[in-house]
Amino acid sequence: MIFKTLTAAAAMLALTAPVLVAGGADDDTLVINGDIEITTKAAAAPHLDGHLDEVMSGWHFRDDDTQAMEMDDFDNPGMIFVDVAIDTWNTAEGSEGKSCADCHNEPESMAGVRAVYPKWNEEAGEVRTLQMQMNACRTERMGAEAWKYDSGDAINMEALLASVSRGMPVNVAIDGPAAETWEKGKEIYYTRYGMLELSCANCHEQNYGNYIRADHLSQGQINAFPTYRLKNAKLNGMHSRFKGCIRDTRAETFSPGSPEFVALELYVASRGNGLDVEGPSVRN
Ligand code: HEC
Ligand code: HEC
Repeated sequence: MIFKTLTAAAAMLALTAPVLVAGGADDDTLVINGDIEITTKAAAAPHLDGHLDEVMSGWHFRDDDTQAMEMDDFDNPGMIFVDVAIDTWNTAEGSEGKSCADCHNEPESMAGVRAVYPKWNEEAGEVRTLQMQMNACRTERMGAEAWKYDSGDAINMEALLASVSRGMPVNVAIDGPAAETWEKGKEIYYTRYGMLELSCANCHEQNYGNYIRADHLSQGQINAFPTYRLKNAKLNGMHSRFKGCIRDTRAETFSPGSPEFVALELYVASRGNGLDVEGPSVRN
């Protein structure tokens, strides 16, 4: 399955020999604060038949030190931004003089929400990501300005909402009115982009466990977002990650918040159905 599926251009990226362990994932167990057990491996959803048997969190592909940082909130730099978001949650903004807390009480009232987004919104007639939903609350209910997609405020709040869903299984709906968006996301996932002619699947489905340059390829799951990356020392949103991955194929790319990335988020989230919400996570 390794080299024959890749184009000559991909070979230029110097994919090195596959590691010996099947899938290249370790067998460690992720427990956060000695308390929250995270399901980091699960049987793949039926829609992945013929593509993947098992889905795995990117946590399994990181080195021990990076893994350890995620196992304790005091060592996880992403949690600093969760604290910032708690202040935002309690601060009134906009013409209505309301805070998130005024309508939603404690952030813990959002437990389970991260796990089912992106989600179809009947009234709006669209699939909404969590950031789109937060902005709908800001613009329609608070009279406040929308946050720029994947900006600090938006990502911090997304991290807060993820943190209260940790240990709950991702379960996004892909049927019914969401099906059309899901199909669009799937198409993007399997499209080869850029001078290197690589699709998401070429790297994250056919080559996870292998090394690309010095980086250990994971399945590119998003159950653990937002991720605090040691590389840029901040929380990173999934759309920004998608953008970076497509740019690495030397392609023009879509923007965070674009309909293409919303669709791709739904599709990639559905590839992780069964894995637990894990964000904010730590990655290199
Ligand atoms: C004036 C009241 C009000 C304020 C203020 C408000 N919201 Fe909401 N929010 C709602 C209502 C009502 C819903 C349910 C709407 C729906 O389901 O379409 C909702 C839904 C949501 C959801 C989706 C929940 C789900 O189960 O799908 C999220 C996430 C959310 N709000 C986040 C926020 C955040 C973050 C803030 C602050 C930036 C905020 N809201 C401020 C009223 C508010
Ligand atoms: C040339 C190979 C390549 C392609 C093509 C590629 N990626 Fe990646 N991607 C990487 C590498 C390398 C990393 C960092 C190591 C890892 O987690 O796999 C990464 C990381 C990710 C992560 C972070 C996973 C985590 O646990 O933090 C996501 C999500 C992701 N990619 C999604 C995508 C999507 C969606 C596409 C298609 C639009 C894509 N990637 C295309 C190489 C690629």
